[in-house]
Amino acid sequence: MRTVTTVAEVRDATDAARRQGHRVGFVPTMGYLHEGHTSLMAAARAATDLVVASVFVNPLQFGAGEDLSSYPRDLDRDTALSEAAGVDLLFVPTVEEVYPHRPVLTTVSVAGITDRFEGAARPTHFAGVATVVTKLLAIVGPCTTYFGAKDWQQVCVVQRLVDDLSLPATVEACPTVREPDGLALSSRNVYLGPEERAAAPVLRRALEAGAALVGAGERDRRRVEAAMAEVVAAEPLAELDYAAAVDAATLAEADVLAGEVRLLVAARLGVPRLLDNLGVVVP
Ligand code: PAJ
Repeated sequence: MRTVTTVAEVRDATDAARRQGHRVGFVPTMGYLHEGHTSLMAAARAATDLVVASVFVNPLQFGAGEDLSSYPRDLDRDTALSEAAGVDLLFVPTVEEVYPHRPVLTTVSVAGITDRFEGAARPTHFAGVATVVTKLLAIVGPCTTYFGAKDWQQVCVVQRLVDDLSLPATVEACPTVREPDGLALSSRNVYLGPEERAAAPVLRRALEAGAALVGAGERDRRRVEAAMAEVVAAEPLAELDYAAAVDAATLAEADVLAGEVRLLVAARLGVPRLLDNLGVVVP
């Protein structure tokens, strides 16, 4: 594995690979890698010839007062994990390399699907994600890019961005990797104290309760949402942000559930806000 820091080095490597007819796989991350991230790298390794991953804590997607300066970082460990997961090229740019002109005047924003859920809690977040993903895809060039279903709204935003801007990328959504007790792996889980950590699987339990209700024939969105909210409310350490049952692709909130539905839940447990989601198909 080679670690590079400049846009030019990434372009040279991906252009050379494509000239040889090789497929390029790309996994964008903010580092502090865990098995969720490495599962994306393994998926890229299995399906493509040159696996590129990036580690870049993107300042544009953090709001004022969020954890940009304290976001966990460990490049030595990230390097070892990336290499073990089969990454060929690790792109670790500086902020200046990605954003040579400050303030950034050209940004990308996806309307509509970014208003609610994570977008309501973090109003500038998705424009920051859309901008950096557009830039990273412009740097890497035509590729298959791998995202975690863990951040479902992010997958929807990226898929829509790629469609709307005709970016030469195929977006693959990969399954959420969990701890044995059901907690979705997240770099921010390190912020959980022992009691909050013990309470954190409540998100997964809420999703399972919602899915069980749909499985039993419930089609009323509000009743499914109320059942999920009730599970979270029963955990005193968890403060619910939202529990929603939405269309899996558009995130629309129809009164009557139909087709591919995504159950979404977010709650604060002490310091961190945790999110999780689960897919259910309404026959
Ligand atoms: P980050 O939080 O580092 O996540 C990088 C990728 O790993 C995302 O696609 C995320 O959904 C995926 N991921 C995180 N936890 C996962 C889990 N438990 N199982 C499976 N996949 C998981 O998401 C970002 O970074 C940034 O917004 C980024 C897309 C890199 C843009 O800056």
